Amino acid sequence: MTAEEAATLIHNDDNVGFSGFTAAGCPKAVPAALAKRAEAEHAAGRPFKIGMFTGASTGDSIDGNLTRANAIKFRTPYQSSSDLRNAINSQDVPYYDMHLSHLTPMLRHGFLGQVNAAIIEASDVTENGEIVLTCGVGITPTVCRLADKIIIELNHKHPKAIRGIHDIYIPVDQPHREAIPIYNPSDRIGTPYIKVDPAKIVAVVETDLPNEGGSFTPIDEITAKIGDNVANFLVAEMKAGRIPKDFLPVQSGVGNIANAVLGAMGENKLIPMFEVYTEVIQDAVIALMKSDRVKFASGCSFTVSNPLMDEIYGNLDFFKPKLLLRTQEISNHPEIIRRLGLIATNTALEADIFGNVNSTHVLGTKMMNGIGGSGDFTRNAYLSIFVTPSVAKGTSISAIVPMVSHLDHNEHSVSILITEQGVADLRGKSPIQRAHTIIENCVHPEYKQLLRDYLKLGSGHTPHNLRACFAFHNAFNETKDMRNVDWSKI
Ligand code: COA
Repeated sequence: MTAEEAATLIHNDDNVGFSGFTAAGCPKAVPAALAKRAEAEHAAGRPFKIGMFTGASTGDSIDGNLTRANAIKFRTPYQSSSDLRNAINSQDVPYYDMHLSHLTPMLRHGFLGQVNAAIIEASDVTENGEIVLTCGVGITPTVCRLADKIIIELNHKHPKAIRGIHDIYIPVDQPHREAIPIYNPSDRIGTPYIKVDPAKIVAVVETDLPNEGGSFTPIDEITAKIGDNVANFLVAEMKAGRIPKDFLPVQSGVGNIANAVLGAMGENKLIPMFEVYTEVIQDAVIALMKSDRVKFASGCSFTVSNPLMDEIYGNLDFFKPKLLLRTQEISNHPEIIRRLGLIATNTALEADIFGNVNSTHVLGTKMMNGIGGSGDFTRNAYLSIFVTPSVAKGTSISAIVPMVSHLDHNEHSVSILITEQGVADLRGKSPIQRAHTIIENCVHPEYKQLLRDYLKLGSGHTPHNLRACFAFHNAFNETKDMRNVDWSKI
């Protein structure tokens, strides 16, 4: 049927699960039609809002269109749409920011309400109910299991020949759970398709639409230096015998900085060819695969630019044996992350001098994107690294502050902090030792003395001064520059 006809199968107040992870693998035509339907209903004086479960962020057809149509009852677990971000920060859309690995078990346990419908993108569907996904897996197998009805966008942009790239596995729920038998990033434990009762498939809408993903900003001097600092740190750890000679699988977070870090690791030939066990497979991974620096990559989506997506599909003989897509419950599963011994690198918005990290809230109150999978990996990795430029918005914001204005990853989970200024190894250090290491190695020169002086204002094991700990943020809010902090006025 048409997207417009399929959209009539969704009702006001329904909770809908969407396929995809980032813009990769998201449906596009039906959500766009759904937004139009919401606008028509509102114009006729009738309510129309849906609850939304997604893998992570989505394309503009989902989050952008449905936000602009004022059609979102609630949203979880992660987003990166500017329209939706504004609606969340103006409290128009209730948003539940959560660890990505938790969403599907919480849905199966019934913690988050019913899933009335699933709207999913597929590259193939058979009469007996085998659905082959496209370039993102996310939460799709669980929402297909739980949903009363499934609407499929059969997107011909994705060749049927990708069947075999996905590994679909839903763990048995507690108390009958057994070990999840992944011992190497390339281990396959499930099926290459999702199996559903064909009677639940209420619509198939044929499309031929590319992913809506953006592109990465080019690597600049700062991100290149951060990348080099990470790579050199890992080489030193190998030399010291703290990373095995054949290396460990690598996870790298989302965004520009994470992409640059992976690129730098690939370029440093003192690091051997390595495997990737991550959430989003970004452009840098594919480039490193082509240059024989990455052996294998397991992830939850191909979050790559459209030309690179075409290149993967055009060279499936080369790429298919080296790539695997899993659900986010498995790509981000603590059991597997701990077992494989991942080197995890994620990006902080800000960190404090004691090693706590804020990944989500700009200046403590405004949601940026969400915690995503950063907590899943950080808490359980062999090495948990956070990277960030030492300053933002010129030099008016220091990314290293006395106390983080929002806490996502605490001092007990963060092992290494790296900026373009240098590396702070926090392992085995007391709070005051961590503070000295971070200030001297990672802080921008414009902020070093201010932070040294802050340390003199406190006492105790973790020497905070509760009157002064948000002075950087207050100075920015009042004068648009954190450097205007004046400790004598505290
Ligand atoms: N205070 C205020 N703004 C800040 C800031 C701070 N301390 N630090 C950075 N910013 C701003 C930047 O100036 C930039 O703003 P702009 O878009 O107006 O230029 C913006 O935040 C993003 O910075 P950018 O340099 O583009 O970083 P990025 O693309 O690498 O993304 C995160 C960084 C933290 C937003 C992103 O990694 C994220 O959402 N992380 C959480 C989820 C996660 O880690 N997932 C990975 C799991 S596998």
